[in-house]
Amino acid sequence: MSELTSLPSWRSLESHYEVMKGMKLSELFHEDSNRASRFSVEFGDLLLDYSKNLITQETMDLLLSLADECGLRQSIDAMFGGDAINRTEGRSVLHIALRNRSNRPIMVEGRDVMPDVNDVLVRMCEFAYKVRAGEWLGYTGVPIKNIVNIGIGGSDLGPKMACEALKAFGQKDLNMYFVSNVDGFHIADTLSGLCPDETLFIIASKTFTTLETMTNANTARDWALMAFGSKAAIAKHFVAISTNAELVSEFGIDTKKMFGFWNWVGGRYSMCSAIGLPIMLQIGPKNFMSMLDGFHAMDEHFRTEDFSKNLPVIMGLLGVWYNNFFNAQTYAILPYDQAMHRFAAHLQQVDMESNGKYVGKDGKKVKWQTGPVIWGEPGTNSQHSFFQLLHQGTKLIPADFIGFCRSQTPIGTHHKVLMANFVAQTEALAFGKSTVDVLAEGVAPELAQHKTFEGNRPTNTLLADELTPYTLGVLMALYEHKIFVQGVIWNVFSFDQMGVELGKVLAKNILKDFEAGKKAELKHDASTNAIVKRLIERM
Ligand code: F6P
Repeated sequence: MSELTSLPSWRSLESHYEVMKGMKLSELFHEDSNRASRFSVEFGDLLLDYSKNLITQETMDLLLSLADECGLRQSIDAMFGGDAINRTEGRSVLHIALRNRSNRPIMVEGRDVMPDVNDVLVRMCEFAYKVRAGEWLGYTGVPIKNIVNIGIGGSDLGPKMACEALKAFGQKDLNMYFVSNVDGFHIADTLSGLCPDETLFIIASKTFTTLETMTNANTARDWALMAFGSKAAIAKHFVAISTNAELVSEFGIDTKKMFGFWNWVGGRYSMCSAIGLPIMLQIGPKNFMSMLDGFHAMDEHFRTEDFSKNLPVIMGLLGVWYNNFFNAQTYAILPYDQAMHRFAAHLQQVDMESNGKYVGKDGKKVKWQTGPVIWGEPGTNSQHSFFQLLHQGTKLIPADFIGFCRSQTPIGTHHKVLMANFVAQTEALAFGKSTVDVLAEGVAPELAQHKTFEGNRPTNTLLADELTPYTLGVLMALYEHKIFVQGVIWNVFSFDQMGVELGKVLAKNILKDFEAGKKAELKHDASTNAIVKRLIERM
């Protein structure tokens, strides 16, 4: 493939941008009475209305040509076909196999992975049934009431996000807790109210070497040993989720109590693997399977649908349009649903760890922008914090508004108020309010500019009927594949995360300095030396 910026479609998009940058959304809607339906697609009960974007049909045609010229179709086929597309680590990328509900064979190195996937799912279901039915007893013969997941990054964010989002489907007498931060406060605070007899720990770590997770896991084991006074208790109160059986058993967890997954599952793409065990424990195997069905339905849509009607492709391309032509630096994800309050946090890892890369597949520095800064909070809270900047700031911030027609918790007028705000915000962002209208309301001329809204702020509206396990699966797979599309266009390897390694190595060195205390021979730069020294003296 020739370099991205030399592709004919890229060149055409550059010239097209010169025309589009002066366009007004209000005019585009005025000119085309069909615009809302022209730029909307439906997938089941999920509507993606992308008409409030700074686009015309020509924009979309050029972006779709860009996808073709970048070989998106071949890349999708390569991923679904099990090719080792994670080339820097020599691995296939098959999170889609974890939720392959059709059970069609998916081959890695000549072997179908589906029997292994199904075996682990069966074991997870058996375990979840037992715990949820109160049949899994702790060391003192008491059923489990508290589940503490210890993990970080992909071994925390996805399951935590889903457990929050699907709390309405949870078992009321089972409490889920997530400990991720190595800051001792996190585990101490979590354990402070818990009774050891009723508490089960899930140690979730793909590698079983992550310093934060292992530090927290050791503290949890000490807490349990202190409470029970016997190593035999570990078998009843600890299970592991990992790809590293050796280290799991070294830690003291019998590998019969380990739920495995495989190196072709990236940490941030692992919530459908055994890493999703806390989700299954909370919502039950049936609902978990329904979530997998949702993922799978979107996987199939992505794999087979024409690009012009393909939700992840459309959203990915729109993201490229703003990132690379409008120079938008960030992208906001705004769910209008309090249960989705960790959705943006999870997507931060999935997106930024995947596409936050300046080296292209050819090993050279790319000459274009890659992954944006992803951020967001649920509405309506966000309206009262950062929306001022979205409406009247100097930066262009494209945003996804995600909402549901029906509430998980219908109470009085709450949902109508919530959704009125949901709709009003995208309307205000797109069309603003003119100075003429402001003055016509009798506003003093010296205040008129301050009360004017330029509008023209692009948004997508994603609207589904209700937040269910199935819908959550659909939404998550949509974003995973959107990120894939963008990685293909930007020509980066989306499935490694080498950028997190250096900090880990340096932290281990500094830990050694701390351990040596005043005898440490500090060999860092002057600033780092001074900070380490100050910490050693005062810690
Ligand atoms: O932060 C880097 C990372 O490797 C993530 O990609 C991963 O999700 C997280 O650490 C946790 O890793 P593990 O599951 O191996 O403990």
